[in-house]
Amino acid sequence: MSAAVVEIAPSILAADFARLGVQVNQAESGGATFLHIDVMDGHFVPNISIGIPVVESLRKHTPMVLDCHLMVSDPDAFIDPFCKAGAQMITVHQEACTHLARTLGLIADLGAAPGVALNPATPVFLLEEVLAQVRQVLVMTVNPGFGGQKFIASAMGKIERLDRIRAERGLDFLIQADGGVTTANARALAEAGCDILVAGSSVFGTDDVTGNVIALSDCANRSAPVRA
Ligand code: DX5
Ligand code: ZN
Repeated sequence: MSAAVVEIAPSILAADFARLGVQVNQAESGGATFLHIDVMDGHFVPNISIGIPVVESLRKHTPMVLDCHLMVSDPDAFIDPFCKAGAQMITVHQEACTHLARTLGLIADLGAAPGVALNPATPVFLLEEVLAQVRQVLVMTVNPGFGGQKFIASAMGKIERLDRIRAERGLDFLIQADGGVTTANARALAEAGCDILVAGSSVFGTDDVTGNVIALSDCANRSAPVRA
């Protein structure tokens, strides 16, 4: 892979929902092209968050790529409605899918880019058979369910392993880190092999949303390495 720019994907979980449209525009002004939408069902994770109507409204409001991270126990039941609502990327959890290859195929058949996510306790080798099928692998760098948690440093090794496997097998899936991303670890995550850094609190945690996206992007891309 060439020296691609590492993208910041703002996670609206940390946004002020009463000002969602304005804050999304501010994130876009900072150069963000992906918008990360955390969908939680209160069952796969102990929290409830955003659903299909929000995706529908955002689709009409922004040209950003709507990237839906489904933290739900039965993703198959929701893939079609999220695609119809305007999601262009759909990421499901390995831990939630009994027939992962079929679920990823369903996402692709419905015209969205399929992604697979790994909880911190789930090893990379469990994805071996599906890596050729996915557009992205999301590495959880916190336990899913809540924003504002501390980055789990051991996840860095998983990102490096995925980057190595990608090169060895000549694959081109994107690697996303999700959770606890800050200006302090953005560069290390980029060096480990990430293409997209999901950031909630560090984008929407203060009023300068545009400046926060720029600051994270500057850190991630500072003398970006050229990957062969
Ligand atoms: C956690 C979510 C993350 C979260 C990131 O379950 O998947 O996307 O919003 O939030 P921060 O950046 O605050 O850790
Ligand atoms: Zn997420």
